[in-house]
Amino acid sequence: MKDFSNKIAAITGAGSGMGRALAIQLAEAGCHLSLADRSATGLAETERIVRTLAPRVRVTTFVFDVANREAMQAFADETAAAHGRVNLIFNNAGVALSSTIEGMAYADLEWIMNVNFWGVVHGTKAFLPYLKAAGEGHIVNTSSIFGIFAQPGMSAYNATKYAVRGFTESLRQELDMMQCGVSATCVHPGGIHTNIAQSSRISPNMIGFMVASEQQGKDDFEKFFITTADDAARAILRGVRRNSRRVLIGRDARAADWLARTLPAAYQALVVMSAKREAAKARRSAGRARAPDFAHTSTHNEAGNKPQQSLHGTGAGAEALAPDRQGETA
Ligand SMILES: NC(=O)c1ccc[n+]([C@@H]2O[C@H](COP(=O)([O-])OP(=O)(O)OC[C@H]3O[C@@H](n4cnc5c(N)ncnc54)[C@H](O)[C@@H]3O)[C@@H](O)[C@H]2O)c1
Repeated sequence: MKDFSNKIAAITGAGSGMGRALAIQLAEAGCHLSLADRSATGLAETERIVRTLAPRVRVTTFVFDVANREAMQAFADETAAAHGRVNLIFNNAGVALSSTIEGMAYADLEWIMNVNFWGVVHGTKAFLPYLKAAGEGHIVNTSSIFGIFAQPGMSAYNATKYAVRGFTESLRQELDMMQCGVSATCVHPGGIHTNIAQSSRISPNMIGFMVASEQQGKDDFEKFFITTADDAARAILRGVRRNSRRVLIGRDARAADWLARTLPAAYQALVVMSAKREAAKARRSAGRARAPDFAHTSTHNEAGNKPQQSLHGTGAGAEALAPDRQGETA
């Protein structure tokens, strides 16, 4: 899709970070918007910004959880009804969890799978018929550099993002075979300056294992946010214009991708070496001589949205690699 003017784009996770940046840049390009988020406050702020910057752009908003299949279907149906057609779906909403596998509560694993993987599946399946009917469409699914490169403490996040990558690469191949006017791109951001650290969960079993404390882990995490959300959105939209199969965002993502392709087994040993150094520091700071025992330690109650920190900021690998540059590969 070369031109976004007068197209209709649906975006999940539009209340913050890359979703908000995508909404703003698409609106500036004259694209009408159907915005969704589970956070009504974040979504209202994005809507306010977009209406101020691009008053002629039509904007509708929907508050729902992407893990809910029926709600996603309603989002697609109502978007098509309100705007007459749909050309783009950005399955961008996502969350992060940091936990050892041994100590991971099934509730946490199911939570992140439901949002990061099933949310993308729901969005793809609900919108695909509308994109085909429009005659010109694009599906943009957000994976991560952690869909290419694994790290200790990130197994659940890794699993969801590897799944998104496999799903989207297969989807793109099917669409290429169908020649139905719809295409797909898989997005692999490195560390992007967004709110993901604040909304992520860190399991207590990580304290003293790979992070000294929640706050320390959060601070470390944010050190690896080397690309702005605006730059990330620009790279994603450039990838859509070029019909790229995948978009790598940031120098860190490009380096990690190269390492995983060049040394697909050995990179893991390098990550372990780096992680061990971080773990020793974390244990010293947490006043522990040895790694903790891993009891089942859920990060939250079943209702489920305790804001926590987590993720990439263990500093062990991919997003610890280096500062900024946009990149993409077709
Ligand atoms: N920031 C990074 O470093 C980074 C790196 C790689 C991949 N990603 C991925 O990029 C995507 C966007 O994240 P971001 O960094 O902009 O984070 P963010 O936290 O700033 O934005 C995510 C948005 O998704 C919404 N959301 C979360 N769960 C939802 C749900 N169940 N239903 C509906 N909305 C939900 C949140 O309310 C939030 O507005 C995510 O898929 C994330 O995994 C981020």
